[in-house]
Formats: sequence, structure tokens, C-alpha cells
Amino acid sequence: MALQEKAVIETKKVTYVYNPQFFRKGVTEQELEKYCDIADYESGGKVIQVFMGRGRTYLVNDPEGRRVIIRHYYRGGMMAKLLNDKFLSFSSTAERSVQEYDLLLRMRAMGLHVPTPILARVTRSGLFIRNDIITKEITGARNVGKILSERPMTDAEILKMGDAIGTLFRAGIYHSDLNINNLLLDGADNPWICDFDKCEMIKITPKRYNEMVSRLKRSFDKESEEHAGMMWTDKDFDKLVRAIEIVFKEKY
Ligand SMILES: Nc1ncnc2c1ncn2[C@@H]1O[C@H](COP(=O)(O)OP(=O)(O)OP(=O)(O)O)[C@@H](O)[C@H]1O
Ligand SMILES: [Mg+2]
Repeated sequence: MALQEKAVIETKKVTYVYNPQFFRKGVTEQELEKYCDIADYESGGKVIQVFMGRGRTYLVNDPEGRRVIIRHYYRGGMMAKLLNDKFLSFSSTAERSVQEYDLLLRMRAMGLHVPTPILARVTRSGLFIRNDIITKEITGARNVGKILSERPMTDAEILKMGDAIGTLFRAGIYHSDLNINNLLLDGADNPWICDFDKCEMIKITPKRYNEMVSRLKRSFDKESEEHAGMMWTDKDFDKLVRAIEIVFKEKY
């Protein structure tokens, strides 16, 4: 991992892991705190777009005029009601924003099409930990869910997206939430993959492969059920899977 892509400021309450390429030398804890502060972006009219998922993900103009994505981490499943955004500090995955930051750096070093990490923040209070991550916007990116609500994807786009997913698998990345809205096409029609919370580098066994592809299929089906007029068919999904397999399974 290149050193210049990771620096740390740590106090008793907060850890900031940040990418020095995005900050002045000697940046302070107060400046990083402000950099993460959604209320500050809101009051300054710097919020460009809000994506509604488990929580809210913000696309904002940072103080240097760069477009960056800010995501707070929320619990999913059974724990969501009980713990909302709190992670138990003794869990091995409590500092998940730092884990995602590190994984993004590793994946970028491997040439994978994933966002550049800018900052991970871990905030401790008693037994609990809260997390935030900031990444650089992929210029002109739109998620596949949004695209398909407006137009079908071309065969070339489906092929490129399958190629990107297959390359990810081949590199040994397990994506724990591979879904339609974590697949992006940028302004030049290049495919990207985002949202690497709880993802890991691990051998992609047939079981893990099937889990990821089934989850992806379920998400396309769910989106089609919920939004009439989604321009996506089972045939398109078959094309996507064939494209994934060309890259991933040629290894065997
Ligand atoms: N680096 C990025 N560049 C451009 N757009 C992004 C980037 N990261 C995220 N997005 C957009 O924001 C949306 C939500 O981001 P993300 O998937 O990371 O969070 P989420 O889905 O809300 O999280 P969760 O899965 O926990 O609900 C994505 O679907 C994508 O449209
Ligand atoms: Mg997502």
C-alpha cells in the first residue's frame, strides 16, 4: 500500500484515516471534523444530491470545490431497530469504515474500477462505535437502477459491466452486497463498483460466487417489481452473467 495514500489522526474519541493527497500538510483534527459535517454542507448550500439507501449518502462540493461522496454507516437486518448506527466496539468489524478504506486502496492498487477513498472516521462513545466514509465522486456516475428506469443498457454496456464484476471476483474480492445500485456507469460509459462495507479479499469459491450472483439477480428482480417500466429483462441478466463468467471462470 502506498504510504502517501494513508495518514492517521487519532484522539481518545475519534480516529481519522485520511488520504493526504486531498488535504494540506498539517491538516488538523478540527478541519477533518468539519470536512465530515453534513450539517455544515447543508447550511452552506453545498449538497448536490442525496441518495436514499439504508441511510442517506450525500454528494457534496467540498471546500476545495471537489465533488465527494459522504456515507454514514447504519446497521442492517435485525440489529437496525435496536442499534441504528452503533457498532459494538469489541466486534472485529466495528471499525468498518477503516476496513473499507483499506480495501478500496488495495483494490485501486490492483487497477480495479472502484472509488478513491478520501477519509474514514471512527467515533467512539462508551461501548459503541460510529463510522463514516468519504470517497471521491466517480465523475458523471449513475447507478444502474437509475439508468434502467430511463433507458435499457446496450449490449456493450452489459458486457463491460460483466467484465468489471468478473475482474473483481477474479481478484478475490467478495462483495457482500452486490446489487443494482452498487453498479455504476460513468459519463464515458465505463463501469464502476461501489459500496464495499463488510467486503473482503478472500478466495471466491463456487459457493461465494453463487451467493453474489443470486443476490445480484434478486436485486434486479426486486427493482423490476417495485418500479414498473424498468428496462431490463431476464435475457439481459443472462448476458451479464455470461460476461462475468468469461472473465472469472476462464481461470479454471
Ligand atoms: N464514489 C461514488 N461516485 C459516484 N456515485 C457514488 C459513489 N459512491 C456512491 N455513489 C452513489 O450513491 C449511492 C449510494 O451509495 P452507497 O451504495 O455507497 O450507499 P448505500 O447503498 O446507501 O449504503 P447501504 O447499502 O448501506 O444502504 C450509489 O448507489 C451511487 O449511486
Ligand atoms: Mg449501495
